[in-house]
Amino acid sequence: MLNAQSSLVGESQAIQEILRTIEKIAATESTVLITGESGTGKELIARAIHEKSARASQPMITVNCGAIPSELLEAELFGHVKGAFTGATANRIGRFEAANGGTIFLDEIGELPLALQVKLLRVLQTKQFEAIGSSKTIEVDVRIVAATNRDLEEAARKKEFREDLYYRLNVIPVKVPNLRDRKSDIAILVNHFITQFNTQTGHNVEAPSGEIMNALNSYDWPGNVREPENLMERLVILKGQGTVDLGDLPHRIFQRYAEGQPQGTGALSEWEFPRMVLPNSGVNLKAIVEAFENHLIDQALARTGNNKNRASELLMMNRTTLVEKLRKRGMITPAAKKAGMLPNNMPTAPSNDMSI
Ligand SMILES: Nc1ncnc2c1ncn2[C@@H]1O[C@H](COP(=O)(O)OP(=O)(O)OP(=O)(O)O)[C@@H](O)[C@H]1O
Ligand SMILES: [Mg+2]
Repeated sequence: MLNAQSSLVGESQAIQEILRTIEKIAATESTVLITGESGTGKELIARAIHEKSARASQPMITVNCGAIPSELLEAELFGHVKGAFTGATANRIGRFEAANGGTIFLDEIGELPLALQVKLLRVLQTKQFEAIGSSKTIEVDVRIVAATNRDLEEAARKKEFREDLYYRLNVIPVKVPNLRDRKSDIAILVNHFITQFNTQTGHNVEAPSGEIMNALNSYDWPGNVREPENLMERLVILKGQGTVDLGDLPHRIFQRYAEGQPQGTGALSEWEFPRMVLPNSGVNLKAIVEAFENHLIDQALARTGNNKNRASELLMMNRTTLVEKLRKRGMITPAAKKAGMLPNNMPTAPSNDMSI
């Protein structure tokens, strides 16, 4: 995994509003509750709040409340003294103390066990707590930022989350919308990630445009920003250079785009023509048309997992015509090639294993 850059990118109203909110609240000490689906950027926002605050030179300590077993979480958050429980062989400070002077980021706060919610409520009110097994009260100066993908208000109504804690946390709410609800951010994010991964790898993949961008825009991105980030990383690494083709996109994205296209003759509209300008020296029309034909045939085979029936349907041609064309090209299936039946320089259908 390449490094994700920490700047928050987006031109949608929602992201612009979040950026303004970050500026306003960074200067304060108020508790922040960031909500949004997985992959929307909650952690990135928490980090931005810390980095813009006067606490930036102090640590930001992250605790993933959902990832630490509940019996260990209390010791993790508040520390313990030697002998407090089996295995507590020495005094150990908790994350709240480690974050002193800085920010503590309580991720997946919705998973915090009810018993610990009481203790956290007191910390929010007084900034005081005791380590497990100790009667000494510790006081810390910590900014609290919490995040969750759960609807905490609903959880509070169902008595799964303490209502008083919810209100204490929700002083400054930051709601991060799903990527599908701010589609104007898709292009800028895609460009941002392509540039970032090109820089990190020294590769030179062109940022998608035209039809590819239309396909990316028409997709719903259930994984939110993490999904285009992973996809662009994969495209940059696997392609290395050049432009992204529709055939490079994972099947689910392509499918979605293809479904949205007007049905009919299957002919290209003018804007979909390959953008080639006729050079003054002329062209070998037959060779170019053949290359284009092969390009589409390869895509159809890749997309259907080499199923010639379905590929011929996609190309609106007879199966026999398709098979004849493949035979003429000496085209082989990847399976035949893998089995070592044919030389390496024979063309094969591209594999379609780009999905993430
Ligand atoms: N607006 C954005 N600009 C640039 N990168 C972003 C943006 N939003 C999210 N990312 C990137 O997307 C990835 C997911 O973001 P992040 O980890 O902050 O999401 P999250 O909401 O905390 O997800 P989860 O709920 O799964 O923990 C990260 O690599 C982050 O850098
Ligand atoms: Mg997160």
